[in-house]
Amino acid sequence: MCAKRLVFNPLDPQYLADPYPTLAALRESDPVHRWLLGRWTTARYPTSSRLGDWLFTRHEHVEALLKDRRLGKWKPRLDLQRETSVEPVVRSQTLWMGLRDPPYHTPFKKLFAQYLGLSRIRTLVPLIEQLAATLIDEYRPQGGMDLIADFADQLASRVLAALIGVDAERWRELVRLAERPMQLFDGTPLAGAARAEANADLQTLNAHLRALGKGVAGAGREGEAGLLQALRAIPSPDPAAADDEVFEAQLVLLIYAGHGTMRDLIGNTLLCLHREPETLAAVRADPTLAGDAVEETLRYESPACVDQRTVHEAFDLAGITLQEGQTISLSISSANRDRRVFGANADEFHLERPARAASLAFGGGIHYCSGWALGKVQAEAALRVVLERLPALQLPSLAQPDWRPSIALRGLNSLPARW
Ligand code: HEM
Repeated sequence: MCAKRLVFNPLDPQYLADPYPTLAALRESDPVHRWLLGRWTTARYPTSSRLGDWLFTRHEHVEALLKDRRLGKWKPRLDLQRETSVEPVVRSQTLWMGLRDPPYHTPFKKLFAQYLGLSRIRTLVPLIEQLAATLIDEYRPQGGMDLIADFADQLASRVLAALIGVDAERWRELVRLAERPMQLFDGTPLAGAARAEANADLQTLNAHLRALGKGVAGAGREGEAGLLQALRAIPSPDPAAADDEVFEAQLVLLIYAGHGTMRDLIGNTLLCLHREPETLAAVRADPTLAGDAVEETLRYESPACVDQRTVHEAFDLAGITLQEGQTISLSISSANRDRRVFGANADEFHLERPARAASLAFGGGIHYCSGWALGKVQAEAALRVVLERLPALQLPSLAQPDWRPSIALRGLNSLPARW
């Protein structure tokens, strides 16, 4: 471990505008950084350690730690049976499969693999294109739109609604209710009344999701169940939580993991591409390159920028001892810019990138993103539709993008467009 220490606030506007020089400095001079996450956020992560976190920034470490079975997601110190008064946002998170180890994690992982696999997702392409085209056509006569609020956010919501089998308007209302709780999940500092409101919204959201679950319980013949029915049929793997509660938590996870990231990937792809006029011209000329633009965006402006793990078994790495029960943070954004892996031009955006398979944008190990296929397929289809239908598209905020203040996700508040 190196002696030099950098102090940085991940919510500082300057850092958010361009986190990469700081991350590069960390990679070189302080690759295992003592990161007191609690200093910057009021979020009480169910997995966060009171000791503070180690932040790993080198690709080599991030990749190895994502896959290392001596680490997991669950923090045994939080016992739901004893700690019954934890606030709703924290309790919900403790039940997300994405924050649990096997065996809790396993039935949900299998179910998501079945319903979100590439072959199934590919059948959605005509629907995604049609939804994207409808959204763009609605704004075409106006000469402008916000590509985040009016397009990426709407598209992500409508596609997920279709996939889950919920009416689009009803799902939209649920996503809206999730907005404030999401800020807490994200690590945005919220305290006092704002925090109470976020918790109240989550309780209302849970009540709606419970009603949704009751509506599908037992519905559908064997072998015909949709995602919602199949999810509702999984009994709670945790004796401290009821079936309903566990079902609700997985849907909240799907909104968190599947909606915001999707919106951010579409927004970041449009931004990255428009910053590179030659690359943009190449994709306009050959729309089959849209997939490469999405892949490179996943590496270059990863929507999921930090991942966390809990140490289950002490071991030494990179000059420190990782102690049992400690939480560590893994910077995906930094690993994906590591020159040791991506070469001297790692800080540039290129459609051709030989080492692209090393990108950690979807994580790694048993928690590898369940929605990777939807992420790639939807962003690619969205990009193709935007470029085809808006040949004179211009993005006036390219020089100063409006990044959302968030520790975990990197995406834009807005992306004004005109044509
Ligand atoms: C669009 C871009 C997306 C990105 C960049 C992304 C990224 C990630 C990352 C980094 C993880 C954590 C992996 C780990 O801890 O090792 C994750 C997990 C997860 N993602 Fe995604 N995701 C995206 C889209 C989606 C979508 C569209 C869905 C669902 C519809 C989804 C559902 C999930 C779920 C359920 C998990 C938990 C998986 C587990 O713990 O086994 N994601 N995602």
